[in-house]
Amino acid sequence: MEYNVSFPTGTVQYSFSDIGELAKKAPAESSIIITDSNVATLYQHIIGDYRTIIIPAGEEYKTENTLHNIVEQLLEFKAHKKTTIVGFGGGVVTDIAGYAASIYMRGVPFGFVPTTLLAMVDAAIGGKNGVNFGLHKNMLGNIRQPSFILYDSQLLKTLPEIEWSNGFAEIIKYGCIFDASLFNSLSKYDIGYYRANAKSLGKLIEKCVSWKNKTVTEDEKENGVRKLLNFGHTAGHAIETLYNLPHGQAVSLGMLIACIIAEKECALPTDVRTQLTNILERYKLPTSLKLHTDQLMDILVMDKKRSNNSIDYILLNSIGSAFIKPLPFDTIKQATEDFANAGNH
Ligand SMILES: NC(=O)c1ccc[n+]([C@@H]2O[C@H](COP(=O)([O-])OP(=O)(O)OC[C@H]3O[C@@H](n4cnc5c(N)ncnc54)[C@H](O)[C@@H]3O)[C@@H](O)[C@H]2O)c1
Repeated sequence: MEYNVSFPTGTVQYSFSDIGELAKKAPAESSIIITDSNVATLYQHIIGDYRTIIIPAGEEYKTENTLHNIVEQLLEFKAHKKTTIVGFGGGVVTDIAGYAASIYMRGVPFGFVPTTLLAMVDAAIGGKNGVNFGLHKNMLGNIRQPSFILYDSQLLKTLPEIEWSNGFAEIIKYGCIFDASLFNSLSKYDIGYYRANAKSLGKLIEKCVSWKNKTVTEDEKENGVRKLLNFGHTAGHAIETLYNLPHGQAVSLGMLIACIIAEKECALPTDVRTQLTNILERYKLPTSLKLHTDQLMDILVMDKKRSNNSIDYILLNSIGSAFIKPLPFDTIKQATEDFANAGNH
């Protein structure tokens, strides 16, 4: 299946097919692959014909330093305005490859082959590219759309179980903010089911892709509805940085903190947090952590959604319905303390 989605900054071709298609979208003679050390080893048989830039695997390498190394290698390869850059990997690779491609020579064509579930359902979509800066997640970046995203779910065969969990954090997020029926169906299955049922997994990925595309086409620059995708990400990003947790695990905890806030701020029934906890546990995601709230708040006050003394926070009315509410830092701090005190750690 193939279709195009048009955003204000560009049109993206989505292909759900086979990695063999890559040669048509990005021929080896005119393309350079950016990937990480794990993916490069696993998929040498696919990327072997390409000029390749390999970055070390891990969030700690989503930095300006890695970006500089990428640019140096692009120069060594004599990459020019018509060279296509392909980000072949998880969300770290797609974020940094998209950023490198969109600033090198003020922008060269690029496409993505997402290889983690998280990148397939979220990170590769929507045009947000960037790197971290010190303790601040995605502090440097831009919005520029890839020209293609090629999906081959066979690439997930090598994905470790923990990375499946991380991907499910974002899938559960879509259920929470947009789609109660998705949430309900997730509560009937588990990672093992989706790993064994290619058809159900394919449908699940396509559903998430369509939710993200719908949101980003309405609001590419994140002035309104796109902010809803940050459910769980405000506290989540700070937790990710402070405790060096994978993105999906941090989002899992962040979604529960958002529920605690909503219980106080808008009488969200506590049953929603119970349902969310159950589903997160089903997908082997963490639901408690001993937080150091002062350190967490030091990071959180620099969140990109901050204005003066408040942050646009994403809260739930119910499963499947979310809204944006500016919240003072004190309210958020109190909720993180409540969360820290309530957990079974
Ligand atoms: N741009 C966006 O809109 C957006 C949205 C969500 C998340 N993100 C970013 O995405 C990143 C997280 O992405 P991620 O969870 O994919 O992390 P990741 O890119 O670090 O990948 C996780 C691990 O899986 C390995 N891996 C990748 N593909 C594999 C495969 N097929 N088989 C075996 N191992 C494989 C990687 O080497 C890595 O060790 C974070 O930096 C987050 O900020 C961006």
